[in-house]
Amino acid sequence: MPNTPSVGPVAAPGIEISLPDVSRSFAEQGPSRNDLPLRATSNRTARMNAPRSPHEHDSAGTVARGDATLAEELGLLIDGATTYAIYMLDPQGRVTIWNRGAERIKGWAEAEIIGRDFAIFYPADDIAAGKPEADLARAHACGRIEEESWRVRKDGSEFLAAVTITALHDDAGALRGFGKVIRDITHEKAAEAAIVRREHHLRSILNTVPDAMIVMNEHGIVASFSAAAELVFGYAASDVIGRNVAMLMPQSEARAHDRHLHTYRRTGERHVIGNVRLENAMRNGGEIFPIELAVGEASIAGERIFTGFIRDLTHRRATERRVQELQSELVHVSRVSAMGTMASTLAHEINQPLTAIANYLEAARAMIGDDGNALLTDIAEALDLAAAQSLRAGTIVRRLRAFVDGRDTGFRDEPLDLLVEEATSLGLLGAHEAGIAVCTRVAPGRAIVLVDRIQIQQVLVNLIRNAIQSMAGSPDKVLTIATAREGDGYMQITVADTGTGIDAAVRARLFEAFATTKEDGMGLGLSICRTIVEAHGGRIWAEGIATGGTAFHFTMPLAQGRDTDTDD
Ligand SMILES: Nc1ncnc2c1ncn2[C@@H]1O[C@H](COP(=O)(O)OP(=O)(O)OP(=O)(O)O)[C@@H](O)[C@H]1O
Ligand SMILES: [Mg+2]
Repeated sequence: MPNTPSVGPVAAPGIEISLPDVSRSFAEQGPSRNDLPLRATSNRTARMNAPRSPHEHDSAGTVARGDATLAEELGLLIDGATTYAIYMLDPQGRVTIWNRGAERIKGWAEAEIIGRDFAIFYPADDIAAGKPEADLARAHACGRIEEESWRVRKDGSEFLAAVTITALHDDAGALRGFGKVIRDITHEKAAEAAIVRREHHLRSILNTVPDAMIVMNEHGIVASFSAAAELVFGYAASDVIGRNVAMLMPQSEARAHDRHLHTYRRTGERHVIGNVRLENAMRNGGEIFPIELAVGEASIAGERIFTGFIRDLTHRRATERRVQELQSELVHVSRVSAMGTMASTLAHEINQPLTAIANYLEAARAMIGDDGNALLTDIAEALDLAAAQSLRAGTIVRRLRAFVDGRDTGFRDEPLDLLVEEATSLGLLGAHEAGIAVCTRVAPGRAIVLVDRIQIQQVLVNLIRNAIQSMAGSPDKVLTIATAREGDGYMQITVADTGTGIDAAVRARLFEAFATTKEDGMGLGLSICRTIVEAHGGRIWAEGIATGGTAFHFTMPLAQGRDTDTDD
């Protein structure tokens, strides 16, 4: 029975070569298999095919020929694997078989390497450290070892090799040698490192792109999710990658998106690709928010990928809305001032009939005379009251006119009492019906202030209106208007109420424009007040009242030399 070595498969990534048949045909060459003769590549298969002994021509001849063919094919196969160095060592580590790939990768021709010690393939350091023998010992012990390590070419250059060493045994279990498969992976590793570097680079770009960026395949499955996308959507990349991008959209848009993708795959008809669109997206937690979406398309290795850039428009929209609101508020303000002009005209128009009414009433009163008739006396009294009311109406209309038409403007010396009284009667229009008690406390003396009367009246009217509004729900509605001297040539005016007190929401911005808690308020009243008061060199502030309600105070300068403490 010929000596048939059992040889394990020699494997390398991507290639599997079984050697038993080769070994068998080697084995059939005789008992000296362990010391294979030196052969050139060209004659290797010839040797394999050559009749080895006369008796091989008889009954065993057919088998031998079959084996020889196989051996030849295998030889070709091994030589054909040009990207692999495939060679064999005897148990002492001397090269016994050498393929073309080995010649190509390592540089030695078969003729010069067969029989040489395989240690020459190792770098000097490894040789000094005894690695060649250690590798063989390990392969012997384990059956096979695989590693990536540096090897040397004939020209002395080094390359990174993926190495497999397989121990080969004969039937009796004796070591016959080693099969080695080596692949030069220097470029592969360099390419891998380059890919890793590029990926890092790309990732660092992705992480710094201010817009959220999502990459997905043509079925909408997310492949990458940038750091900004994590922030915008409130998901970690790991929550989204591998899932359908529809999870980031409100239901209706998700359905539409699916349809668009489907149509695009079928017909190539584009929906968002290449344009910027405004859409809605959905955050983790279900909040729907407006986005600007731009989608690009790329084809990588025949597979289409889509890259979406997403800008969160929530803040921009909020700002736009605010600007719109401000605009409509401005429109409102200008309408208010237009109404002021109208009111002025109206006041002028009404004044004449009111004067006429007063005159007729007085004439009627004179016609009745004092003749002692009880009924006529009652009628005369009613006419007196009617005349008084029409005069009052006339006064109110005159004040209103002066107040709104702004004709009577400019800084002048004004008696404070009168100014306050007029403004109060304007501010209080309708207040009595609202059940408000007014308490007026006037500083002694006749203070003359240097002010723009209309403007200061406007301040008072604003404060009084706010005070009345704040007391709408209060059981006790007391409005206090007080004037007092403040040192340094100033007067202080106070408007206090028994209302709700200042809402915490506006407290810090009380005097800023558009700070309001009222549904129909514009939040302009107090900001106008401050502008006016400060233009007068005074100041304005608010304070809570311990018993409930708020007091607004403001100051204005006394007219120089006209501050008189003397009596009225
Ligand atoms: N006397 C007050 N008591 C309680 N809160 C007040 C008082 N005066 C002002 N406020 C608060 O300050 C806010 C701002 O007042 P401001 O007069 O500037 O605007 P507004 O009254 O809301 O609107 P408008 O522009 O019509 O006057 C009010 O909305 C209200 O919340
Ligand atoms: Mg107000």
